[in-house]
Amino acid sequence: MISPKELQKKYADGYNISAILRKELNVTCNTKEIIEISYDIQTGSYTQKMQEKEYADFKEKYSKELTNTILSLCEPKSILEAGVGEATTLCSVLKHLNKDIKSYGFDLSWSRTFYAKNYLQRHNITNTSLCCGDLLNIPFLDDSIDVVYTSHSIEPNGGQEEQILRELYRVTRKFLILLEPDYKLSSKESKERMDLHGYCKNLDTIAHSLGYNVLKHEPFSLSYNPLNPTALTIISKQSDTPSPSEVFACPKLKTPLKKIANAMYSPESLTAYPILDDIACLKIENGIFASKYQEIMED
Ligand SMILES: C[S@@+](CC[C@H](N)C(=O)[O-])C[C@H]1O[C@@H](n2cnc3c(N)ncnc32)[C@H](O)[C@@H]1O
Repeated sequence: MISPKELQKKYADGYNISAILRKELNVTCNTKEIIEISYDIQTGSYTQKMQEKEYADFKEKYSKELTNTILSLCEPKSILEAGVGEATTLCSVLKHLNKDIKSYGFDLSWSRTFYAKNYLQRHNITNTSLCCGDLLNIPFLDDSIDVVYTSHSIEPNGGQEEQILRELYRVTRKFLILLEPDYKLSSKESKERMDLHGYCKNLDTIAHSLGYNVLKHEPFSLSYNPLNPTALTIISKQSDTPSPSEVFACPKLKTPLKKIANAMYSPESLTAYPILDDIACLKIENGIFASKYQEIMED
């Protein structure tokens, strides 16, 4: 099996890491490990791309359009980008929104989450809470965030669409907005590319079949790569439960977490999730079962 260090070298030499890993593991869909390793190794590429004027201008328009979509639906008090990458989308969205909004982001990759924190700080955004987490087991409480959105993060998780939609919907209070590739709306060439990369499909159909109220599903007005056109899907939830004051949750049980010493602790699952350089690592596999942690630390 190829080592991560060798993969890092392959990436530097211009190879597609996820394609190498899919071949090594003999799978057609991306596993969580493939996604985590391939995106983590690419860390820095998105913030670097923002130095190209043409790309930065596109990102600005894309984020402005997303912000307009959000504001046409509601004035959110809280917002979450699921699969935040290096926060190059979230940063522009936040610049266009009310400054008092509570903002959150999570990503499978620790390195990208760290870069996201630095990128936001460089743009004077210091009040966004970021953590590591998985779309398949989102570390946020039920009905905790007014507007949850994704921007091409469900994309590599082909085959896991239903669980991801259930998770995103669980966390949403008012609206769930998806900016993701749309297989059905794509050309033959795009479809072949999406199949090759193991991309997600049929999010709107699955959302309908889950009984969700799909307000809109249509091509988004801006797409950077014509071979990977973005579709906009808006799902309304309108939960009337009051928003919780703390939003982070144990990814296993989806119950509240408590910050104790250098970890987020779940008193229900008796599991400590480490905080690595200010970033809470809230994936199930990050958890350390420690039934005495709270007692020891609070002694
Ligand atoms: C194409 S990038 C988009 C990043 C960001 N949303 C943006 O607009 O710039 C996809 C991101 O989704 C993250 N991602 C993919 N699958 C994920 C999963 N299952 N859980 C959490 N993050 C995921 C990747 O690590 C990567 O940072």
